[in-house]
Amino acid sequence: MSEPLIEFKGVKTGYGHMEVLHGIDLSVTAGEIVTLIGSNGAGKTTTLMTLSGVNKVWEGEIRYAGESLNPVPPHEIVARGICHVPEGRQVFRDLTVKENLILGAYLRNDEEGIQKDLRHINELFPILEERQGQLGGTLSGGEQQMLAIGRALMGRPKVLLLDEPSLGLAPLIVKDIFETVQRINKEEGMTVLLVEQNANLALQMADRAYVIETGRITLSGDAKELANDPKVREAYLGGE
Ligand SMILES: Nc1ncnc2c1ncn2[C@@H]1O[C@H](COP(=O)(O)OP(=O)(O)O)[C@@H](O)[C@H]1O
Ligand SMILES: [Mg+2]
Repeated sequence: MSEPLIEFKGVKTGYGHMEVLHGIDLSVTAGEIVTLIGSNGAGKTTTLMTLSGVNKVWEGEIRYAGESLNPVPPHEIVARGICHVPEGRQVFRDLTVKENLILGAYLRNDEEGIQKDLRHINELFPILEERQGQLGGTLSGGEQQMLAIGRALMGRPKVLLLDEPSLGLAPLIVKDIFETVQRINKEEGMTVLLVEQNANLALQMADRAYVIETGRITLSGDAKELANDPKVREAYLGGE
């Protein structure tokens, strides 16, 4: 098998003196959708922040495309194609939808390509085209999430990191967003690492999954198999 695109090897990190990740091993192969599920406070956001370079690796290593990311600063990690859609979306509230999208292309200067990608994103998320002149802060939660993902796509990333895109959204809207992410994965081969408390939908759409509990990976495997695992059902799927 070829080397994974992303690989965590015994990664430890934390805040101040408190260790939060106690040696994470995790890998993502190019073209996969991998989900990391776990309860509130388990260390999901910390894992993504460490991959983005915002949190430093204390011990162990994160590798990407055959190189260690440990010494690489966050802006360079973005430039290499890892784009993080943060928890809580964080769209620019006082900029229009279109301005938000254009900002996602700040590292590019291929004007024609940018216009083409804008059209593509408007096709993926038609509501964004309808709302292109509206201020980001006035969008609904679901629309803001679509805008946050669309803005990330404008940077033409190789890997999309999604931190709890379902947070606070109605189930039908979540389904719509997840289907679009799946489409981007299938049609463009975009690699996706999705972090979710909403294990149900995440396991339905992912290829593989990891379960994180208080900073440790406790289970991993095929997403559909994990969805049927009694321990996962009990702990994360309400035992249905
Ligand atoms: N900026 C921070 N400073 C101190 N502790 C933090 C900070 N962010 C997260 N933590 C702690 O790290 C642990 C993991 O948090 P987090 O990665 O946000 O979990 P999750 O995303 O799974 O809910 C929690 O105990 C949380 O309180
Ligand atoms: Mg989180």
